[in-house]
Amino acid sequence: MPAGRPSGLLGKEIAGYRVESEIGRGGMAVVYRARDLRLDRTVALKLLAPELARNDTFRKRFAHESRVAASIDHPHIVPVFEAGETEGVLYIAMRYVAGRDLAALLDREGPLPPVKAGRIAAQVASALDAAHAHDLVHRDVKPGNVLVAEGTDGDHPEHVYLTDFGLTKKSLSLTGFTTVGEFVGTLDYVAPEQISGKPVDGRCDVYSLACVVFETLVGAPPFRRDNDWAVLWAQQYDPPPPLSEVRPGLPSAADAVFARALAKTPEERYGTCLEFVAELRAVLADAPGGGPAAPRGPRRLGAPPAPPAWARPVFRELD
Ligand SMILES: Nc1ncnc2c1ncn2[C@@H]1O[C@H](COP(=O)(O)OP(=O)(O)OP(=O)(O)O)[C@@H](O)[C@H]1O
Ligand SMILES: [Mg+2]
Repeated sequence: MPAGRPSGLLGKEIAGYRVESEIGRGGMAVVYRARDLRLDRTVALKLLAPELARNDTFRKRFAHESRVAASIDHPHIVPVFEAGETEGVLYIAMRYVAGRDLAALLDREGPLPPVKAGRIAAQVASALDAAHAHDLVHRDVKPGNVLVAEGTDGDHPEHVYLTDFGLTKKSLSLTGFTTVGEFVGTLDYVAPEQISGKPVDGRCDVYSLACVVFETLVGAPPFRRDNDWAVLWAQQYDPPPPLSEVRPGLPSAADAVFARALAKTPEERYGTCLEFVAELRAVLADAPGGGPAAPRGPRRLGAPPAPPAWARPVFRELD
């Protein structure tokens, strides 16, 4: 199932699921909407690239991590129904989330109003903290792994799910690179200790979450550079740009919150994701008027303009 080639799997049956349509694809997998033929329900079926199944380290970790991920029952974590291997392909069946991922949402809406960004951040943070309580580190928190569905009511306008626990290729040598040595995926959210190959714990997710939340507020992650090497350097050595300078109108108190969440050494960061998000929401709420207006958003509809002179006779007739 090489990326870029149209999939011949539509309509086919794989491990008891009938593939209906392609939802999206990343660097290492293709996600399909599929029908669970045993329970007659719609699921998201993720098929991992065949070369990953040939990597023994990956297979072992895949089996272990999908078991742990499936054992976490949390309102903001995509429930995993089944994970396994069939005909040399690793697959995961999980809840189909109707909506779009945060990357697509930001593409469409641009930077989010601080209140909405805060609501989304809090849901992702609660999912991560729950995972950390099970000693599971996500390692790949990024907008593409945050799925935003419609919420239950006006108080909860969106319901956010985190997905892809432990499925990153970044922590596995070789599997993260193509044969020509190119990195697959994005380095925009990767913590300094992941880059230097040190052991990671939940605090690497605090860092990545902070990169994601920064992007939801200003439209770009903290370290945008011309090439991957420069991004790697910046993640390890450059201080993050002050949020309030990147998006004037956001309170300068938020700069210190991001400086701590994005500290280069894990010991200097917040201990939990919710601690970071709670502090951020508190300073954003203190901003005069609740922060700046969203740079882009739905146009407010006022009274329609008066009709042009040539149309007036028609309007008079209609009166
Ligand atoms: N459970 C789900 N329900 C609905 N859509 C999903 C689900 N899981 C993933 N998707 C969609 O499929 C897309 C592809 O997912 P995938 O995990 O393969 O790639 P990615 O996360 O964007 O990148 P990467 O390969 O670096 O992980 C996601 O961006 C998302 O829009
Ligand atoms: Mg993903």
